[in-house]
Amino acid sequence: MAKELSAAGIKQGLKTAIIGHKIIHLPSVTSTMDAARAEALKGAAEGTVIIAGEQTGGRGRLQRSWLTPKGNIALSIILYPDIASLPYLIMVVSLAVVKSIETVAGIKAHIKWPNDILIDGKKVCGILIENNMRGNKVACSIVGIGINVGLNVKDYAEIAATATSLKSQPKDDVFRVKLVKELLQAFDQLYVNLTDGKAIYAAWREKLITLGKPVKAVSGSQTIEGVAEAVDESGALAIRRADGTVISVVAGDVTLRE
Ligand code: BTN
Repeated sequence: MAKELSAAGIKQGLKTAIIGHKIIHLPSVTSTMDAARAEALKGAAEGTVIIAGEQTGGRGRLQRSWLTPKGNIALSIILYPDIASLPYLIMVVSLAVVKSIETVAGIKAHIKWPNDILIDGKKVCGILIENNMRGNKVACSIVGIGINVGLNVKDYAEIAATATSLKSQPKDDVFRVKLVKELLQAFDQLYVNLTDGKAIYAAWREKLITLGKPVKAVSGSQTIEGVAEAVDESGALAIRRADGTVISVVAGDVTLRE
């Protein structure tokens, strides 16, 4: 197993049909999302991966920033899915991250609706999907995945209480290379089977910790409090409020309440 996180190290023995035929490793970049978009505009092949040693301007959902000092995993994957597949994309990414963490680190991970991966209730991975549309066709989807590996979350007041990291101080890159390879392989398998949306939805639902829990969802200017009751196949979350009404939230941010 390669000791350094490099394109060649990740590609060595990688078993995928679409993902990772081309891997671009950038030691330092503002955001892999921007680097991936630039590659897509130049006509990059589907499945091209941009992976960074560190990000100096990593971004998350809802205009938040995403910390990626050296030692973590920050990558973006370029995809050209059809529009009907878009709702399933977040399910594919989330399941691939969970599987790779469980396989390589041997730790149980869960999905918090809509885009977070948690270990013991704390966020270990964030996912950002940016779609570029051309009319009613998808010009490209950039899937960004950030996994905390070597991050000492206690050093960062803004995430100290809510985030976690897979390893405290990795001595070499063997663990990260293994995790990235497993992630790309798991992603590839699910992406190839994206035509079977029903099976992916069922597996994703199974891994969601949000269902049955009291939640507060912020969606645009709306705040909805209640119990997360169901998710449908498009990924929308149904929240039952105290007055019995049910609101369907398509996109937003959810806080699980004790
Ligand atoms: C979130 O939880 O809000 C999503 C975080 C997504 C972070 C990843 S790291 C790789 C890619 N590059 C970025 O700038 N963001 C995503």
